[in-house]
Amino acid sequence: MDRMKGKVCLVTGAARGLGLAAAEALLAQGASVMMTDLDAATGEAEAARLGRHAAFMPQDVTRESQWAQVLDAVQERFGGLDVLVNNAGIAHILDVENVSADIWRRTLDVNLSAVFLGTQAAIARMKGRGGSIVNIASIEGLIGEAVLPSYNASKGGVRLFTRSTAIHCARSGYNIRVNSVCPGFADTQMVSGALATLTPEAAQQFAEKTLARIPMGRFAQPSEIAAAVLFLASDESSYVTGSDLVVDGGMTA
Ligand SMILES: NC(=O)c1ccc[n+]([C@@H]2O[C@H](COP(=O)([O-])OP(=O)(O)OC[C@H]3O[C@@H](n4cnc5c(N)ncnc54)[C@H](O)[C@@H]3O)[C@@H](O)[C@H]2O)c1
Repeated sequence: MDRMKGKVCLVTGAARGLGLAAAEALLAQGASVMMTDLDAATGEAEAARLGRHAAFMPQDVTRESQWAQVLDAVQERFGGLDVLVNNAGIAHILDVENVSADIWRRTLDVNLSAVFLGTQAAIARMKGRGGSIVNIASIEGLIGEAVLPSYNASKGGVRLFTRSTAIHCARSGYNIRVNSVCPGFADTQMVSGALATLTPEAAQQFAEKTLARIPMGRFAQPSEIAAAVLFLASDESSYVTGSDLVVDGGMTA
């Protein structure tokens, strides 16, 4: 119950899916959580449901100027920032011959450049007091998938960006740890939404092929990914920095 007592967390993309599950897990362990998302209506409603230690603010993580506003709001509402979970992300199922330059750039913007913007802004606030930054990468940053070239590139980028930032923060004596979580397939709207862009036959084939590659034979529940986020956010991982925590039912083993 008290693993995050007194800690202030910011979780992006927290209106649903893995971000919402992370916010719930952090709150359940005593944290105060600022949740942000593009989807203000859902985010507001979820934060209200989660009680007085949760708050919501609309944010487009790709907009540099909004980061300062969000961090100011966190400071004002809860005091300084201890944990940033860079979770917001998007995915499109389109192979390299069919992905447009616009989708490529948007995917890199949301999944990678926004992680940089958030991390840079958070370090400025955490310097001197310490903190933990948890970047949600993916097993798709470890292995290639023919229909996810822009997503693969963005998540591979998140993993290495995480490492260079972790080394910098540790060597600078900031007491800021930076890690990534690499989820396998989890049961969220990202997966169902991406599958919905395929024909029903292609979607079923993709889902069956993917399940067959997972030794545990099932997708993850969002709470199972949130448990990894919680560990990296908490002081239990005090000697862990620059790591990728893979949570994939054995898929990449
Ligand atoms: N679901 C999976 O199988 C899976 C696997 C590996 C990694 N991930 C990663 O986990 C993270 C969360 O995924 P999810 O499955 O919960 O997805 P989701 O689509 O269910 O939720 C993503 C949330 O991010 C928000 N968002 C999107 N763009 C945004 C932006 N520019 N600014 C602010 N918010 C924005 C959306 O509104 C949404 O609420 C993503 O980074 C995703 O790449 C998911």
